Amino acid sequence: MTTDLRTLKATIEDALNHHLPHQSSIAQPLVDAMRYATLSGGKRLRPMLTCASCIAVGGAMEDALAPACAVEFIHAYSLIHDDLPAMDNDPLRHGLPSNHIQFGEGNAILAGDALQALAFRTLAEAANVPPQTRLQAVALLSEAAGWQGMVGGQHLDLAAEQQSLPLEHLEALHTAKTGALIRVAVQIGALVGRPDIPDERFVLLSEFAGRLGLAFQVMDDILDVTGSTATLGKPAGSDAIAEKSTYVKLLGIEDSRALAASLLEEARAFLSRANLQDALLIELSDRSINREF
Ligand code: IPE
Ligand code: IPE
Ligand code: MG
Ligand code: MG
Ligand code: MG
Repeated sequence: MTTDLRTLKATIEDALNHHLPHQSSIAQPLVDAMRYATLSGGKRLRPMLTCASCIAVGGAMEDALAPACAVEFIHAYSLIHDDLPAMDNDPLRHGLPSNHIQFGEGNAILAGDALQALAFRTLAEAANVPPQTRLQAVALLSEAAGWQGMVGGQHLDLAAEQQSLPLEHLEALHTAKTGALIRVAVQIGALVGRPDIPDERFVLLSEFAGRLGLAFQVMDDILDVTGSTATLGKPAGSDAIAEKSTYVKLLGIEDSRALAASLLEEARAFLSRANLQDALLIELSDRSINREF
């Protein structure tokens, strides 16, 4: 990782710590579960994309920090719920016991709920962002997180267990469960960095991020098969045990790799047409597809 990205990651982790509650006189275990879910690790891809997108359109990275945290809070909540026995039933996340193992199922569900609420509060109060842009960002994030986006995709993911989906349905599933949040991370960064961003550029950035988001989940499916529990920090082979519908199941490893590479190439082509200061976005997208963890 370049120094720029390393510094950005550390800055985001400081901001996450700042926006999370520290203490509660009535619900300390809940606060502990929220902090554990958010601060115990992770690549920070989405909040880094938000900051990188803000920089790409000429904005100040500091203005994107609170919105970036909002996106990461939604992501952290989604992982708590994803690991629950009623969903993927995975006992390990970031190399540590999953939230429900550490804090109990009830607290894990509530910590996810509370992180989702915190995400919208953090976005609504983002400093140096015009009120109209905050409203736009709240609407976009709720759409990407909700029934048309991540939650809708998680529903499709559960419904597709033990099924053999056609490729278009699998693409719709992955686009919703993972693509939507990655896409909105980039969109929010662009709006914060330049509230009057021309439509054409916004569309090109959205297309870039949509391809990247899909490629990211294709890689996640591949790593579930090729990675080890030690490097992934989550149980390898979990998709096969749950009989998930994945790209690997449908296409095999080699064709899935080729698909991820071609999606990344398409993503990069959209980005270059937008003509932005895109060095960090390029580095992030390359690293998130060519990864081993
Ligand atoms: C894991 O996302 C869940 C998916 C959407 C594939 P990440 O791989 O970005 O999770 P962390 O935050 O880096 O652990
Ligand atoms: C999860 O997809 C996507 C979410 C919305 C959380 P996975 O179930 O494949 O994510 P991992 O592999 O558990 O991180
Ligand atoms: Mg899942
Ligand atoms: Mg899972
Ligand atoms: Mg997975």
